[in-house]
Amino acid sequence: MGNVYVLDHPLIQHKLTYIRNKSTGTKEFRELVDEVAALMAFEITRDLPLEEITVETPVTEAKTKILAGKKIGLIPILRAGLGMVDGILRLIPAARVGHVGLYRDPETLKPVEYYIKLPSDIDERELIVIDPMLATGGSANDAIHSLKKRGAKQIRLMCLIAAPEGVELVQQQHPDVDIYLAALDEKLNEKGYIVPGLGDAGDRLYGTK
Ligand code: URA
Repeated sequence: MGNVYVLDHPLIQHKLTYIRNKSTGTKEFRELVDEVAALMAFEITRDLPLEEITVETPVTEAKTKILAGKKIGLIPILRAGLGMVDGILRLIPAARVGHVGLYRDPETLKPVEYYIKLPSDIDERELIVIDPMLATGGSANDAIHSLKKRGAKQIRLMCLIAAPEGVELVQQQHPDVDIYLAALDEKLNEKGYIVPGLGDAGDRLYGTK
């Protein structure tokens, strides 16, 4: 079973409070999501492996460390996932970014993948799937499935807020995927919104309705 990590760093929790507040306007909301994404990236990358190298400092030779092993790929789910990409890229600027666009056919309820563009070497990368809201879990589940079908081997899921229903679905379907959250909320309401949540993440990021 994949682990669920709620990142309880005080800065993340503080900023999330302003993100949740319905009085927070689009500009500030976007900036806060960007900042929280960067802080979450800092926490999520804690376990990346290091290797020792030697460099010449102006004073002497030093044994020092650099990141080793797998390279990172960020996979935002369109459209709200885009709001978290730049914050993460500030900390991991060499990461490649793939995009997945999905919608659910209203009649069949089956996922329809309307867009996918990925780095060619996803099988060699540690992939971070990004979606601010893990509600029913349908989109994240389908996106992860798509990535695995195309060869992805190591995947983490990063969301701002999740409902227990979404976490359960991803854990059931993808027990190898660890989930990183800023908050695990109470439930979904009858319209599929996370409660208490933050409303529609895409609309709040882009000022649409
Ligand atoms: N998607 C959102 O943007 N918000 C929710 O509460 C649920 C799904």
